[in-house]
Amino acid sequence: MLDGRRILLVISGGIAAYKSLELIRRLRERSAAVRCVVTANATQFVTPLALQTLSGEKVFQDTFSLTDEHEIGHITLARDCDLVVVAPATANLLAKMAAGLADDLASTALLVTDRPILAAPAMNFRMWGHPATQANLATLAGRGVRTVGPNAGPLAEGESGIGRMAEPGEIVAAVEGLLAAGPLQGVKALVTSGPTFEPIDPVRFIGNRSSGKQGHAIAVALARLGAEVTLISGPVRLPDPAGIRTIAVETAREMLGAALANLPVDVAVCAAAVADWTVSNASREKRKKEPGAPPPAIELAPNPDILATLSEQGSARPRLVVGFAAETEKVVEHARAKRERKGCDWIVANDVSPASGTFGGDFNSVHLISAAGTEDWPRIAKSDVAERLAWRIADFLKPGGHG
Ligand code: CTP
Repeated sequence: MLDGRRILLVISGGIAAYKSLELIRRLRERSAAVRCVVTANATQFVTPLALQTLSGEKVFQDTFSLTDEHEIGHITLARDCDLVVVAPATANLLAKMAAGLADDLASTALLVTDRPILAAPAMNFRMWGHPATQANLATLAGRGVRTVGPNAGPLAEGESGIGRMAEPGEIVAAVEGLLAAGPLQGVKALVTSGPTFEPIDPVRFIGNRSSGKQGHAIAVALARLGAEVTLISGPVRLPDPAGIRTIAVETAREMLGAALANLPVDVAVCAAAVADWTVSNASREKRKKEPGAPPPAIELAPNPDILATLSEQGSARPRLVVGFAAETEKVVEHARAKRERKGCDWIVANDVSPASGTFGGDFNSVHLISAAGTEDWPRIAKSDVAERLAWRIADFLKPGGHG
């Protein structure tokens, strides 16, 4: 049952839009509230009157409709729900979502929402297979957008292939899966991710090559299991994951400040590659080259250790503090020592030797080190490491759990 859960259903213009009527009926049968947003093209396939009759709610179409804006602003419309379902999601709408375009109410709502998004793609199989569509889907998946389907089978134009929208029953099952109370419901989590940049002067800094992929994936995985996640991220080239409160910081001190300001939490995962040193003689003005003068000396001072600081918070200490160890040799031995030194509960040790391809890559091979011992995990995608870690955290935090 979806008792009282609120779904914003975005319908774009494909022949599969006729199945949206059945989808609304099934969602309402399960006691969900459904509010529809249609694109102009969608109204060629289903009428707003049919949608309104089945949903029992006003149907929204026009960003600039004064009556719509008066009743409910488009920002509230996009956020006042538990889940946004895009069905059908045409190749065009997926491309607009990936590019961040907002030229009608549907795309604006998708850009402005902070709720999880489930898309049910529907298109011709050639459009589905096109590298542009696949690249857009990869971008959207990286931002936490979930998809259901498409299925293989006969398509509208008499051809056959992958592109049929998932059946209403499959979409409802995916909705139930996403809205079901996950094992981390009610759990607060803090995740640090990415590098820190330590300024030398207003234009130069000391940084590192961390991509933030692993930390961001952990934030997404914890949120999927129902946790309320705060992600504190150094400068990365990744989008803020949908539905996760993300705080952007630059330096280690800012990261520590943001972490302490967000306590108490149940679990903290420190995946950031924090710079060990800050530049103590950083200049307020840009350093100039003086003709004939030697290069300026950069003086370094140690940065605070965020993981160690969180581990020693006394009564405000998270129940579980998880650190990462990036090692190039004697991976497990060094990581065990690091766990003791920093006072955290678990260390996820990864091999970052150049041969491993971990830094900046999509795969990781890790060992989970706790007081109980060491688990060796196989080489798997960073998103799978994240999911596995999230489930281990859920096991630990459940009543009577241990780890
Ligand atoms: N970390 C942190 N704050 C720091 C440095 C590190 O929170 N100032 C955290 C990282 O997020 C990671 C763990 O500590 O979870 C391990 O970081 P690492 O840089 O590998 O540890 P170091 O103590 O710097 O070890 P090494 O001697 O290998 O540099």
